Amino acid sequence: MSAYLKKIETLANLAPGSISEAKTLEELEALRLEYLGRKGAVTEILHSLAQVPAEQRPVLGKRANELKKEIERLIKAREAELENEQFDREIARHRMDVTLPGFKPWIGSIHPLNQTQARINEIFFSMGFSLAEGPEVEDEFHNFEALNTPADHPARDVQDTFYLEGGLLLRSHTSPVQVRHMQAHKPPVRIISPGRVFRRDTPDASHSPVFHQVEGLYVDEHVTFGDLKYTLEQFALQLFGPAGKLRFRPSFFPFTEPSAEVDCLCVFCSGKSCRVCKGTGWLELLGCGMVNPNVFKAVGYDPERWTGFAFGLGIDRICMLVHGINDIRLFLESDVNFLSQF
Ligand code: PHE
Repeated sequence: MSAYLKKIETLANLAPGSISEAKTLEELEALRLEYLGRKGAVTEILHSLAQVPAEQRPVLGKRANELKKEIERLIKAREAELENEQFDREIARHRMDVTLPGFKPWIGSIHPLNQTQARINEIFFSMGFSLAEGPEVEDEFHNFEALNTPADHPARDVQDTFYLEGGLLLRSHTSPVQVRHMQAHKPPVRIISPGRVFRRDTPDASHSPVFHQVEGLYVDEHVTFGDLKYTLEQFALQLFGPAGKLRFRPSFFPFTEPSAEVDCLCVFCSGKSCRVCKGTGWLELLGCGMVNPNVFKAVGYDPERWTGFAFGLGIDRICMLVHGINDIRLFLESDVNFLSQF
């Protein structure tokens, strides 16, 4: 066998193994250069064909070309293999289990206080009341004086009310909205005024310096305490269902005369006595009364002609009762775990 043919066959034996052992595209490229590059083994063989005796040239040349084609084919095949492996590795890296449950989009919920307020509004709207709103920053006239609350009344103490500069204050109830409404409208009046109110209370489970009220006002000719009682009883029935029984206790507010505090039968024990009602069977619900003639005078209504009732209830407290929430501070904490339950 000529030395030339020997070179070809040695390479033909060696190349397939080395190519199939290439582990990366880089290694394969190095092999390609080693065989087929400008100084590569196969290239050299083809170049040295000139030195082979002329009669052997066609046969040897054909064999050398076959070798070149074979090596090119092997490299291409191995290249495809390596590319496939690389692709599989990429896929494996990004693999996902399409049978896993998806992520639920986060849907917000309406704050329990807003839900409760909406429910209270709805009940009073159904009885013909309409909405009245007013500022949270008030003056002493609307928050106190017009409501027959004289300067020496304890509610006007800095201990109880947040005073601001310039004779202003944060409203301590939503009754000033009723004063503003009466100043702007002639009777008859039938409004509820829900909103935020502020009092200097040290926060604990049942006190918060910011809380929410709905106050109601009904002014017309010949309005009686019976109207007030019936209105509130209907309200309690709609809010709590047949269990919503009320009890009226005499009380005092500067802006109403007579005044009453209203309890509802404990919604937790139906009056049997439990921890929530502290064994009394009743829960304090709201304050109310017949509008004091002095309030009518302050807003320019004739107290001889007009009569009316007013009531005020705490939304936070009702929301706590309805949902069995035991700490008023939860309403202000924006804790999603708490809020998303409603
Ligand atoms: N404004 C009173 C309060 O905040 C509640 C109330 C309103 C009482 C109307 C009687 C009549 O405590």
